[in-house]
Formats: sequence, C-alpha cells, structure tokens
Amino acid sequence: MKITIIGTGYVGLVTGTCFAQVGHRVICVDNDPAKVKLLQGGGMPIYEPGLEELVNSNVAAGRLRFSDSTREGVEQSDVIFIAVPTPPQADGSVDLSFIEGVAREIASNMTAYRIVVDKSTVPVKTGEKVTETIKRYSKGRVEFDVVSNPEFLREGFAVDDLMHPDRVVVGVSSERPVQAMREVYEPFKAPIIVTDISSAELIKHAANSFLALKISYINAISVVCEAAGANVQEVANGIGMDKRIGRQFLDASLGFGGSCFPKDLSAFIKIAEQLGYDFGLLKEVQRINSDQMARFVKKIASTLWVLKDKRIGVLGLAFKQNTDDVRMSPAIDLCQRLLKEGAVLRVHDPQAMEKARPLLPTVTYVGEMNEVAEGCDALIVATEWPEFKKLDLDRARRNMSHPIMFDGRNLFDPKEMERLGWIYKSIGR
Ligand code: UDX
Repeated sequence: MKITIIGTGYVGLVTGTCFAQVGHRVICVDNDPAKVKLLQGGGMPIYEPGLEELVNSNVAAGRLRFSDSTREGVEQSDVIFIAVPTPPQADGSVDLSFIEGVAREIASNMTAYRIVVDKSTVPVKTGEKVTETIKRYSKGRVEFDVVSNPEFLREGFAVDDLMHPDRVVVGVSSERPVQAMREVYEPFKAPIIVTDISSAELIKHAANSFLALKISYINAISVVCEAAGANVQEVANGIGMDKRIGRQFLDASLGFGGSCFPKDLSAFIKIAEQLGYDFGLLKEVQRINSDQMARFVKKIASTLWVLKDKRIGVLGLAFKQNTDDVRMSPAIDLCQRLLKEGAVLRVHDPQAMEKARPLLPTVTYVGEMNEVAEGCDALIVATEWPEFKKLDLDRARRNMSHPIMFDGRNLFDPKEMERLGWIYKSIGR
C-alpha cells in the first residue's frame, strides 16, 4: 500500500517507519525543511529506543522516504495520514489550526480519490470539520473519505506499541475506506474495531483520561498508605491481580506528565463542558496530580528545613524512562520549584539533558550518574530510568553531607535503604 504521513513528530515518524517495516511504501512529509534534511541525512530528531535502526533499514530498502512537499505526498499515495500537533490553548481547549491547514493543503492537491486519516488526538467532531474543509477547498472536484484512527503509542515504547497494538480503532462514515484501512493494518495482526468517527475520536480521550485516572487513584491511595503506615506497592499488587483492575498504571509517583495526559485531560474536560457536561471526576484527577507534586516538595522542605543554598542532586529530567522528552515533565517542574526556593541543583538524565537545558539554565549538568550526589545535602529520584537502580549507593552515601534520598518513583527498597544507612523517603511507603 502507498501511504503518506503528514507530520514527522513522535507519532508520525514512528507510525510511518512501522508501516514501512511491514512492507508498505511510505512518504513522511514535514513542513520543517531542516527536520526533513536531518532525516534524509540519516539523523534522528528524537530519541526513541529502536527507531533509528528501523528508519535506516527501511530507507535503505527503499520503502521509506522523507519530503517537505505535501503535494508530492498527496499525489503519490492512496492513504494520507495526518499526524500534526494539536497543542493546548490557555483555556484547556485544543488548537486545531495545524489540522485545518493540512486539510486545506490536502484538498488543494487532490486529483483522485484519497482516504484522509486523522491520527492526531482531536476533540470529537473534528472529523466532520475536516470533511467540510476538504470539500470546500477541493471545490467538490474529487471524491474522498475521512477516517479517524487514533494512536495509542507510549513514548519510550513507541515501536513496540505500534508493532503490537492491543487494538486498532478505525472510525468511518461509509464502508468505502474500510477495506483499505484493513489492508494498512492487516500485517500487525491486531483486532480492528470499525466504528463511527465520533466514537473513534472519543475512544482516544476516554482511554487517556482513564489511564490518568488510574494514576491519580493510586496516588490518592499512596497518601492514605503514608498516613496509615501501609505500603502502596503492596496495595497496588493486591488490587492489580484482580483482572478487572489490572496492575498497569498503578505505580504511585510524583505525578503524571508528558505531552499527552495533562493536555488530553484538559481538552476532554473542555469538550465535555462544550457538550453540556461538567466532568468533575476528571477535574479531581487533575487536582490529585498537582497535589501529589506539592506534597513531594513539602516532604523535601520539611526534612531539609531551609532549602535556600541546599545542594540537591536530581536523578532524572525526562517525564518518564526511555525518552528524552521533557514536555510537562514532573522532574522539570520539581527542579523549578526547588530552584525558586533557592536550592542549588546538580542534575543528570541519561537522554534528556540537552532538551532540559533551556528550561533549567542555572543547574549543573552531570554526565555520570554516580557523580551527581557529590557534596549534596539530599538526592532525589525524579524519573524511573532502570539504570538508576544500579546507582553506587555506597559511593553516593560517602560523598554526601547527609545520606538523604527522596524517591519520587519508588525505585529502591525502603528496608534495604535503611539498612545501608540512608534516610529514605518515597511515595506511599
Ligand atoms: C500516553 C498513553 O499511555 C498513550 O497510550 C497515548 O498514546 C499517549 O499518552 P505517554 O505520555 O507516552 O503515553 O506515557 P505513559 O507511559 O502513558 O506515561 C504518562 C505519565 O504517567 C508519565 O509521566 C509516567 O511517569 C506517569 N505514570 C505512568 C505514573 O506516574 N504511574 C504509572 O503507573 C504509569
């Protein structure tokens, strides 16, 4: 199948690459010539495990190429995916101007029947708007179908999520594009749910909000556990073994972040409001999430008393493991709060230090994780990178003024840390 992906961000680049990997011929289009050039020259704009190798091998096999021409993409492919950003606006609603712009460009370059698939996360009813826009700007010259096909990949696990999806959601308004969409996804051997466009659009927001709700639920339980002297991990294991609940997304933390959950929650609350429903449940999910960070900062401040001039080591800047993405990262938020209180920070992240620099220009970046604790009054774990578990705890303890650790990701065992002589504070344990 010939496929064009418009937008070469996380979703577009990984989707295009995985489509090529299963044998489709893919053109990835981006309107940023510098990014296209980088990709054409074998460079990677993002860090995502396994992606670079996959891009290189599919480019070499002639199944994947990059272009800055939407016209070329529209002319050469039967199915055109839109994977452009839908950033949040100040009131929580979504900025759909990139989607609108791409729909217009597709319309003006279409000369034969095309299937236009929205992959970006959009408010319900966007499919209708895209349809109207393409009709208007193509001047009714050619036939087309609009399809909603939301993406559920997680950063850090994007290639695996895409190659082995739990399900594929295809929202259509007629039967005509269904066969082609089945052909696109047939190689992935996943269940395909064919539904109407509005339901498909809602599935994405409903899924992400539910996952965020699960995290806020366990974070609320972590507060009760701390007050009761219980252990939130034991509780999560106990409830998670119930198949109706499931263990995933029940890891208590200093809160969720990233480019999706915070944005999608705000958007879904706004969408519901516009449809006449006050989604109080999701507002509470947001409140618990921001309280969780505030509580963590308070824990640090009440232990160290005065934060001004305290030297604090921070392990992790990315919003989660396996990514260099720092958008809406709880770790960055935490650092900014500590800096505001006058703390002096030494930070390390295996991948995200470059992207963190503009957001944290005054901290000391340390290239080696075992050197972060040098001369520090406390050490914080802010991202759950697996390598942090291999931290040389003896060396860190010896090099610190006080061996105090605040673990915002519950990476270490409290009893073991106590045995090793640490003052160790984690989440809900
Ligand atoms: C999420 C959805 O999982 C994905 O399906 C959707 O397409 C995009 O949004 P992503 O933002 O990449 O993916 O990361 P995810 O792994 O879901 O984590 C989101 C945030 O929740 C991170 O800050 C993570 O640290 C936090 N989290 C996750 C927890 O605090 N506890 C958990 O148990 C799981």
